Amino acid sequence: MSKIIAVTFQKGGVGKTTTAFHLAHNGLPTTVIDFDPQASITELFDATKTDNKMTVQDIARSRFPDRKTFELLECHQRDLIKIIPNDFIHFDLDIKITSQDREYIIKVFKNNLSLISDDIIIIDCSPAQNTLTLAAQLAADTIIIPVELSDSSTKGLLEMLHLFSKLKMTNDIYILPTKIARDIYGKKYLGRLKDEFGARVLSPIPLYTEIKEVFHTKKPCFSNTKAGQAMKQLLKEVL
Ligand SMILES: Nc1ncnc2c1ncn2[C@@H]1O[C@H](COP(=O)(O)OP(=O)(O)OP(=O)(O)O)[C@@H](O)[C@H]1O
Ligand SMILES: [Mg+2]
Repeated sequence: MSKIIAVTFQKGGVGKTTTAFHLAHNGLPTTVIDFDPQASITELFDATKTDNKMTVQDIARSRFPDRKTFELLECHQRDLIKIIPNDFIHFDLDIKITSQDREYIIKVFKNNLSLISDDIIIIDCSPAQNTLTLAAQLAADTIIIPVELSDSSTKGLLEMLHLFSKLKMTNDIYILPTKIARDIYGKKYLGRLKDEFGARVLSPIPLYTEIKEVFHTKKPCFSNTKAGQAMKQLLKEVL
């Protein structure tokens, strides 16, 4: 059985894709699923669609047919990491589907995940609480919620945890403070998060230029710097 990790938060730009990208480089056979039509992690892996490759959107378009969909996928592969890309289209899945479709998509997606034989599955979610996001959250063993220092992050976090408790979800849920300023404000914010959420709060990923540059270099940051150490610590705490 694979360990399924969903990286999810409805606020944009908090570091979901950066987190998912680093978690993917864990040394074990891993499948990365890009659930975001912005396709950032697809680009980080240079896994853009080619004619003979299926994408997450192909699955959505055919409404998750009740067959072994993932067996049909020809994934992109980089060393031990397979990537099921997204291809910038189909923002409107949620507009077209009925609630019956939604339940069906969630059920079949979960079944399809069980056909993946890699040790780890990482799902990079979009910044929207839509059907695909919910499917990822419900299927995950571990949910990671990256949050920045801001009132809207805290409000969104509380809303999300409320949703999870309403759905009676039993996954391991972690809060990952990201892009944290290394000053008194960052320290205070971390203190408040820990007071409120205790052991659920992972070690923070501070704001580092070296991490920002990952989107240009397309290489994970595991160097012997403070930035690299923060990323290594993340893998240690989550995997
Ligand atoms: N620890 C960090 N230090 C500096 N820059 C960071 C850090 N984490 C992420 N960033 C930068 O912040 C921006 C947003 O990061 P990222 O794309 O990972 O967020 P996201 O939550 O996936 O965004 P979206 O909601 O649009 O999918 C990127 O430019 C990224 O390089
Ligand atoms: Mg992203």
